[in-house]
Amino acid sequence: MKKYLLVISLVASILIGAYLFGHPSRVSAPKPSLPSPVKVSPQPAPTIPVSFNAALYSTSDPASLWVITNKQHALSPTNYAPSNLVVPTIPLRANITSSEKYVRSDMATALQTMIADAKVVGINLNLQSGYRSYSYQGSLYNRYVTQQGQAVADSQSARPGYSEHQTGLAVDLGGTSNPRCDIEQCYAATLEGQWLASNSYRFGFIVRYPIDKQTVTGYTYEPWHVRYVGTELSQEMHTKGVSTLEEFFNVSGGESY
Ligand code: DAL
Ligand code: ZN
Repeated sequence: MKKYLLVISLVASILIGAYLFGHPSRVSAPKPSLPSPVKVSPQPAPTIPVSFNAALYSTSDPASLWVITNKQHALSPTNYAPSNLVVPTIPLRANITSSEKYVRSDMATALQTMIADAKVVGINLNLQSGYRSYSYQGSLYNRYVTQQGQAVADSQSARPGYSEHQTGLAVDLGGTSNPRCDIEQCYAATLEGQWLASNSYRFGFIVRYPIDKQTVTGYTYEPWHVRYVGTELSQEMHTKGVSTLEEFFNVSGGESY
């Protein structure tokens, strides 16, 4: 009986072995082939457009880069004087008065960069007039009134307490290509005037009294008078195609006090 069982188990082992060896798949199932890992190269961070913040700086604080002074908005206080004035390292007109050499220190760097970059392409700008105190602006304005009458004076010169020059953020620029056009409307046609009109925004400046905007700004065209507002604002105004601070900030202006 034992022998009989031994034979049976031996035969069964042989049959099972043969079955298994004949079907190798039963012994070791092939591993499912995994998709080869996809190589993901690092993606640059998405660029989120930085929206312009029109409330970043005050338009009424006389020390603000975005201060708006016009015939409807006197500087406050009217005898405001900036504390941080420096003489920029740029060419100065001959016989410039000692106070007009100064500009606010935080615009001096931008002014120097702009004038140096212009020089590289053969444009020679110089400083005609920078900072003007309340009393100096008063004497200039009074001289214009005496020479031309009040109506003409008011269309070209600010009364004391209303001039951008009093903030230290505005400069009148001249040039060497045609010095007879310094502080004249023909400056617009000079190399320097044309370069300023096309390029000053890149350095944070705007031509503050554009042609055909007298009813908005209160002043006739001054292609030589540039105002520092910083590149955030000058670029935004350029992009939007808005040429005056009054229109950009929706602030009143105009020709009457
Ligand atoms: N000429 C500009 C308006 C000024 O006097 O400030
Ligand atoms: Zn000016």
